[in-house]
Amino acid sequence: MSLDLTAPAPDAPDVAEDGVWLECIETGETYAPFDEIRYTSDGGHLLEVKYADPPALEDFEGQGRGVWRYRDALPFEEGVSLPEGDTPLHEAPRLREDIGVNTLRIKHEGMNPTGSFKDRGMTVGVRVAKELGVDRLACASTGNTSAALAAYGARGGMQTLVLLPSGKVAAGKIAQAALHDARILEVDGNFDSCLDIVQDLAERGEVYLLNSLNPFRLEGQKTIGLEILEEFRDDYGRFPDRIVLPVGNAGNTAALYKAFRELVQSGSLDPEEVPKLTGVQAEGAAPMVEAVENGWEDTERWDEVETRATAIRIGNPVNAPKALPGIRQTNGTAVAVSDAEITSAQRDLAREGIGVEPASAASVAGLRKLRSDGVVDADEDVVCLTTGHLLKDPDAAFEAGNEPEPVANSTESVLDHIGAE
Ligand SMILES: Cc1ncc(COP(=O)(O)O)c(C=O)c1O
Repeated sequence: MSLDLTAPAPDAPDVAEDGVWLECIETGETYAPFDEIRYTSDGGHLLEVKYADPPALEDFEGQGRGVWRYRDALPFEEGVSLPEGDTPLHEAPRLREDIGVNTLRIKHEGMNPTGSFKDRGMTVGVRVAKELGVDRLACASTGNTSAALAAYGARGGMQTLVLLPSGKVAAGKIAQAALHDARILEVDGNFDSCLDIVQDLAERGEVYLLNSLNPFRLEGQKTIGLEILEEFRDDYGRFPDRIVLPVGNAGNTAALYKAFRELVQSGSLDPEEVPKLTGVQAEGAAPMVEAVENGWEDTERWDEVETRATAIRIGNPVNAPKALPGIRQTNGTAVAVSDAEITSAQRDLAREGIGVEPASAASVAGLRKLRSDGVVDADEDVVCLTTGHLLKDPDAAFEAGNEPEPVANSTESVLDHIGAE
């Protein structure tokens, strides 16, 4: 099976262009990468981008910083860039001590140009759109994809159309899409129905789809995993035991697994060195957790989903067939956390100076839970992914943080108010 951690590097089929092609994850059917617009196989299954020459860690040395440092792992040498990637891998010493693990680092993807990891996928995806000669880009979004698509589309001089679940997208994200000149359609439905519609539009040739169903998006997102491995190795001389990440459509889980599989193929990583991929969902939107717990090959769609972590309010994770083998074959797991646990983790991160939106804090909430349940050991080296910036969701930050205190306009009043002697 092509999704096995130890599957050997494939031979290039005739359809390959410069050693790059698309392959169906179920049947192995291959397709030329840029001859036609294609998101899935003829049978409707997910596609993966394949390389005749999978990258080795040495290939990246001396290649600059950010997503395009990893051009040897990508289908192009450069993209439509703002630039993106090269995000901090923060230490969080009090949180590490409190949760009780050997090492805890926070990979803060909120520090990308539009404030989320989606930028890594868009720099590649919009480059592919240019290659294909399309002019109208579209996505369904819980918010961050729309902000990134709008910004990268603007940068690339292309029109953008975004479909959002009405009333369920955080203010900062809509503001970004609006100012970057996206046409914003608010749909009376949830994210999954927005994605159904945008897929229909794409099938009718009206738009080029840039959700993570598009396999090129995940190529850019692979670089999160590559950066984590390089940075962790530079700091400690080893790789992390576990990477904990929030899960919505499971694109990042699939992308990180692909990054690690390719490094195993090139001989840069031993299969037992691959970090355990550990997904976290909100209790009100946890189809991946359900699938992992039941040993299913795919998720079952949840029609009713709810969580204050609106970015991961998703009931039908399209990348589940790619992500579930990743969780299993790396000996990872998946766990659901409550909204209260998410808010508490958001405060814990903020007290370390790391400002994240609620969905991002799910990773830390999940780690805390798995550690207290004894699933994560005290001697583990862990990286938690925080996927979006605090300012994406100002309302959630106000709810989780301190109340502003009104005070009269004088120094004496301020001194009185703060109880100074
Ligand atoms: C902040 C944030 N975290 C996590 C996710 C989920 O990521 P994925 O779809 O890759 O699982 C999203 C996207 O939907 C997001 O915006």
